[in-house]
Amino acid sequence: MNITYNNDKRIFKIDTDNSSYIIAIVDDEEFVGHVYYGPFVQDDDLSYLMRINENPRVPSVNNRDRSSFLDSFPSEYSGNNVGDYRESAIAVTDKKGHSGIQLLYKNHRIFQGKPALRGLPATFAKDSEAMTLEIEVEDRVLNVEAVLRYSIFEGSDAIVRSVSFINSSYEEIYLEKIMSMCLDMDDDNYKMLVLHGSWARERHIQYRQIGYGKQSVSSVRGESSHQEHPFIALVGENISQTTGDVYGFNFVYSGNFIAQVEKNQFDSLRIVMGIHPDNFRFKLGPKESFVCPEVVMVYSNEGLGHMTRTYHDLYRKHLIRSPYVDKPRPILINNWEATYFDFDDEKLIDIAKDAKECGIEMLVMDDGWFGRRNDDNSSLGDWKVNENKLKGGLKKLVDRVNDIGLKFGIWFEPEMISPDSDLYRKHPDWAICIPGREACRSRNQYVLDLTREEVRKYVYEAVASILRSANIQYVKWDMNRQLTDIGSAAIDSDRQGELMHRYVLAVYELQERLTNEFPDLLLENCSGGGARFDPGMLYYSPQIWCSDDTDAIERLLIQEGTALIYPLSSIGAHVSVCPNHTVGRVTPFETRGNVALAGTFGYELDITKLSAPEKTMVNEQVKMYHRYSGLVRNGDYYRIASYSSGGQIDCYMVVSKDKSEAIITFVQVLNQPNRHSIKIKIDGLDDNKKYQIEGYDKAYYGSTLKHAGLLIERPFGDFESKIIHLVEEY
Ligand code: GLA
Repeated sequence: MNITYNNDKRIFKIDTDNSSYIIAIVDDEEFVGHVYYGPFVQDDDLSYLMRINENPRVPSVNNRDRSSFLDSFPSEYSGNNVGDYRESAIAVTDKKGHSGIQLLYKNHRIFQGKPALRGLPATFAKDSEAMTLEIEVEDRVLNVEAVLRYSIFEGSDAIVRSVSFINSSYEEIYLEKIMSMCLDMDDDNYKMLVLHGSWARERHIQYRQIGYGKQSVSSVRGESSHQEHPFIALVGENISQTTGDVYGFNFVYSGNFIAQVEKNQFDSLRIVMGIHPDNFRFKLGPKESFVCPEVVMVYSNEGLGHMTRTYHDLYRKHLIRSPYVDKPRPILINNWEATYFDFDDEKLIDIAKDAKECGIEMLVMDDGWFGRRNDDNSSLGDWKVNENKLKGGLKKLVDRVNDIGLKFGIWFEPEMISPDSDLYRKHPDWAICIPGREACRSRNQYVLDLTREEVRKYVYEAVASILRSANIQYVKWDMNRQLTDIGSAAIDSDRQGELMHRYVLAVYELQERLTNEFPDLLLENCSGGGARFDPGMLYYSPQIWCSDDTDAIERLLIQEGTALIYPLSSIGAHVSVCPNHTVGRVTPFETRGNVALAGTFGYELDITKLSAPEKTMVNEQVKMYHRYSGLVRNGDYYRIASYSSGGQIDCYMVVSKDKSEAIITFVQVLNQPNRHSIKIKIDGLDDNKKYQIEGYDKAYYGSTLKHAGLLIERPFGDFESKIIHLVEEY
């Protein structure tokens, strides 16, 4: 890990263990240009790559063709409306309504450590573990400045980028767009890897060709969304788990975003990532500043696997703050699929008793415990316990559950308001809406205008006072609709464009307060399943509900896409009943447990209705979780085979950091007749260690398992699975 500046050549070089990123200051005007990003290189002066000594040359030599220069120069952070016609990284409107901006070098600093970002989730590190480069750039006409920031971490191949903008002028200025990064590079026949989805089908891996023009993924839904994910990767032609070039970009933000790749007339690519400019307009008075969320870039020339493990390690070590990040999580049982809204204290106690017998450690009471909420049409905002359901109140129930020997957790949807609620009757203007236009309902609810301080105060107290009232150790923070009708009754007309971003900042502020007041609380974020599964939320909660789809086979696709970036320790995964409530599929109980093991593990079913053999299986699964959860939480993840790529099997391994132990999860999706056993090749073990494999007579070297492979007998039947445990032979 190192960052250097070559004063003679005016070149910055950022080196991680295996990658280099090079930036140069060019010509008399001091354009900040992008030189190189890829495998580690020794030379710093690669400025020939910018082609500034060929036509159209730099403006000091050929100002006549300045626009040709700006429109092809690999820019580190592109300006707007002054000659570069490709995507701008920033756009502003000044007081006179003009919009030109060109940010040129002003200054820089290189220092140990990683600065926090005001009001935003961000990676963090001790000073000894990270280094940062800040390049100050300025528009010399507008008198505004920006800081382009790059941080690297000891032992990691990630580079984290962010941008801050400062209005140093004496005039107001409107930010119309501000990307968190811009990266120009030559196209090398890259494809785009994206995580596309929908409710119950989140984060499916998809590949797209990159054509001329612009292609993007984005969300304008007020959250990172089920539909598209704030992540893209550019991957080379020979991409696999172990081979090929990969450039990954992940946005540490939970609201509107865009990630765009533009291929231009000269076959170069411009990648930008940042807050989506739609419905975005931020007014900055003199000396005011704007801080952009950060982007985590990972380059790997050893395929997707290295990228994945780099993200996992970075997020476990430098993003997820919760003390639970490396602690065992209580195995929970959640009553949602067991009862939906139809429960009372006695039903929950029955579930708790049976759960305790099976070794489960926490009961989570889901939606329906407050106001008059007997279906999803009312009461969001009225966070008062419904004593018709919970007789004697919440504390009494929690104490009873604790007496049984289980911890207690609770569900909230704090950001919402039902039109049929006391809160709405009292404060209709607290809902986000455009005055004079009937706001769009979704799940029969509106979104609270969290940009207002009094609303935030109400929401915080509603949640915190419930948590203070009983021994509650877990919160599931849900968000079940996306934003529409963006308008606030309390924001000035020239600041309405700030609402979407201020809303996200408000969610962060609330979760920051909550985790500060309740430092031991286990917080799980959720949004109609996995619509806000993003690095921003991981900063506040160590785990996120991955999807409302709990079917083991559907989960293979969802969890593979999620685990492409996010550590298994963050993926909320539960065993539920069959036929599955989302797809009606029947899968073996064992497979449901094996698939949920690749996550935080729990149950989402009415345990009182399970048969005796099924309860025995729960007991066994609980033991399995205790046996392997440390490995799953802290180990290295290796993908072996994918159902998502049309395969008949799904298979992955988690190996301990010291490579002394591993588990392989093998799922046969559909069986086929008259076939040989299946051969898997296992990358990720120590070549020179011998491994004993449960169910096999002999021990084999890691190199044998990698190159020659292991034969797995086909189970009889569809959806069958097994866990294969490997331990180093001493
Ligand atoms: C969302 C969540 C579910 C459940 C319901 C309750 O859909 O994803 O797990 O909590 O809300 O309404």
